[in-house]
Amino acid sequence: MRYDSISNSLFIKNRNNFISKMKPNTIAILTSNDVKHNNADDVMGFTQNNDLFYLSGIDQEDTILMLYPDAYKEENRAILFVKETNEHIKIWDGEKLTKEQATKISGIDRVEWLHDFETLLQYMAFEADGFYLGHNEHIKRVTKDQETQQDRMIKWCKQKYPLHDCHRAAKITRELRQIKSEEEVKQIQKAADISVESFKRVLKACQPSMMEYELEAELTYNLVKSGATRHAFKPIVASGKNACALHYNTNDNECKDGDMILLDFGVCYANYNSDTTRCFPVNGKFSERQKEVYSSVLHCLKEGSKLLKPGIPHADYEKNMASLVEAELIKLGLLNANDVANQDPKKPLYKKYFMHGTAHHIGLDVHDVGPYRTIEEGMVFTCEPGIYIAEEGIGCRLENDYLITKEGNVNLTEAMPIEINEIESLMNN
Ligand code: GLY
Ligand code: MN
Ligand code: MN
Repeated sequence: MRYDSISNSLFIKNRNNFISKMKPNTIAILTSNDVKHNNADDVMGFTQNNDLFYLSGIDQEDTILMLYPDAYKEENRAILFVKETNEHIKIWDGEKLTKEQATKISGIDRVEWLHDFETLLQYMAFEADGFYLGHNEHIKRVTKDQETQQDRMIKWCKQKYPLHDCHRAAKITRELRQIKSEEEVKQIQKAADISVESFKRVLKACQPSMMEYELEAELTYNLVKSGATRHAFKPIVASGKNACALHYNTNDNECKDGDMILLDFGVCYANYNSDTTRCFPVNGKFSERQKEVYSSVLHCLKEGSKLLKPGIPHADYEKNMASLVEAELIKLGLLNANDVANQDPKKPLYKKYFMHGTAHHIGLDVHDVGPYRTIEEGMVFTCEPGIYIAEEGIGCRLENDYLITKEGNVNLTEAMPIEINEIESLMNN
């Protein structure tokens, strides 16, 4: 494993919380993700299913977690199934988890081989009334022709046990996962710390005429060297007008003297993610206009992040952040105050220059799951206002990650340089 092991007390606590929300006499079945194929032969690598990880800590393919809290026999109340290894796997892929290792990671005493899953489930399904099944539910997910391990399990269960009730495990996990425990915040903090060093490396490397992907390489170097698992998402290294395409990530253009770069990247450490955005001038010195736009966005970040506090409805936060950005757009001469006063509230004028939400949960998913209602203590949110002026070739977004506490919030990405003078001095020394 690349990352420091996580205490199994986290997974034990998560399972207890999950179980407390299950209907009586039901079995929860959570499966790992598929190893995805690129093409005919090569694989894209493995990313664990986040709900399975949250409830077990197991970071290996071909894993199933079965929870049956009302089982008559105590030994049947939690069973973890892992793949039994053999000489062939050992020779080609190396070591796989032993039962003892799986117990140590998860805190689950009973570990069985995966090939015994159907037989053991049959025994328990006979006693139970229904299932909780895993599914990668997300408000933004559009599934098209991609049958997942979870889809297959749902289909199989419904076919084999047509008279059992089926429930959504994700409805429980999205409530639980929105509140981060101390151990989880620790992992997000580690991801954030790696991202700080990665950003400084990019600032030092940046020179006019470099390609955007060369800066991406600097990020990747530091990330891998620091023991991070992977980029949290494909990094956005967008110079000049490319920064106005919100999800630009081909990173295949030249960084031109006089342009500003928008760098939006995240680090995944122990399956937990950071997500940060910084902007900086290719030549190490912001132009006057870049400074104006940057200062406006920084003002919105500083003021807007203060609105992330317990008791505030998420939608109110977004509305207030939009008002902050709107005021800056007027100051920058991009919107006219009169026009704004008379605008159709359903089609606010700021949308031309600012078109996205500015606070998503972050955790095991970058855009983490949660019902997005009221902000509560223990949540971790990004804050990411932006202004995009396509006609001027300037796109600016600034993004930090904040832990919500009773007293306000804690910026987990505080150490990442953000003030104009800090950035310029790092680039020029
Ligand atoms: N990079 C995606 C986001 O900031 O939400
Ligand atoms: Mn981002
Ligand atoms: Mn984000």
